[in-house]
Amino acid sequence: SNPNVRCVTCTAPVNIAVIKYWGKTDETRILPTNPSLSVTLGQDELRAKTSVAASSSFTEDRLWLNGIEQSISSPRIQNVLKEIRRRAHKRKSGDSKNDVVLTQHVHIVSENNFPTAAGLASSAAGYACLVFALGKLFGVHGEISDIARQGSGSACRSLYGGYVLWKMGSKEDGSDSHAVQVQPETHWPQMRSLILVVSDQKKHVGSTEGMQTTVQTSDLMEKRIKLVDKRTAEITKAINERDFPTFAKITMQESNQLHAVCLDTYPPIFYMTDTSRLIVRLVHAINDISGKVKVAYTFDAGPNACLYLLEEDVPRVLSLVRHFFPPSKDMKDSSFVTGLKLDEIK
Ligand code: PMV
Repeated sequence: SNPNVRCVTCTAPVNIAVIKYWGKTDETRILPTNPSLSVTLGQDELRAKTSVAASSSFTEDRLWLNGIEQSISSPRIQNVLKEIRRRAHKRKSGDSKNDVVLTQHVHIVSENNFPTAAGLASSAAGYACLVFALGKLFGVHGEISDIARQGSGSACRSLYGGYVLWKMGSKEDGSDSHAVQVQPETHWPQMRSLILVVSDQKKHVGSTEGMQTTVQTSDLMEKRIKLVDKRTAEITKAINERDFPTFAKITMQESNQLHAVCLDTYPPIFYMTDTSRLIVRLVHAINDISGKVKVAYTFDAGPNACLYLLEEDVPRVLSLVRHFFPPSKDMKDSSFVTGLKLDEIK
């Protein structure tokens, strides 16, 4: 309403990787040791919502996350702001009206509608949303997923819907390490995900520190990096052909390998809990009695599971999950699957 304040609001969904990003070759630019591939969830479920405002009356850049003011001095946020302003400046030099906006400070207000930092890709949605909103505010167009990458690696994949590949790239400056859409969400209308919230507590080792220690100490990691390209090619083919059993099998093997290299890290990192492992056993039991791979699980840097399955199997799988893990009223009770979110990818 204030004519001197320009404001942009947008939302960005979470993405859950089926080929995992775990390890960097460049900590500052955030360049990965291997490509990764994810599915972006629906806009209405797990998402970040961010407003960015610029005004000549603002005296400094400021940031609020879920209603609480945070320091804006984190190098990642600073890198993102610097890069957006650099590109805006390059594009706009000579255009005096917009040059004025470039000198203005920004206020950023962001909220998640799900637990932050519980291994539910909150930083991915958050940085994707921030970069998209800033891009709109400053008139930066074209590829911006490489800017989101500098906020949180996996964030680059949340700028696209559907099935998204984060290409490693080969340039030292990281300019070709960005996301590309493999298939839009409409390509596989039957695909669904179920998020099983085992715990909404903060993860015990952050992904930045975790992957750093894995790269430094895990011998298995070297072997893993050699395997990822082949797996990425195979799952891309399965997605293109809508071959669910192959998609599901690779997804589970990838998740298991991520947690194997975490265990091989010294000191070891445990993201999965007993409840997580019970979910793994339940999924394999369902697949065994079905005589066919019907469901896949995948776990990130936390105990919560994401299940991928086809629409026709949702009622049966959901009732089995609810039978073995009756929803608890207390979300703080981490020993049970406490909340279920049916997220429709369409
Ligand atoms: O982008 P980060 O630093 O939050 O790392 C995410 C790593 C995993 O979620 C575990 C895997 C992935 O590819 O999203």
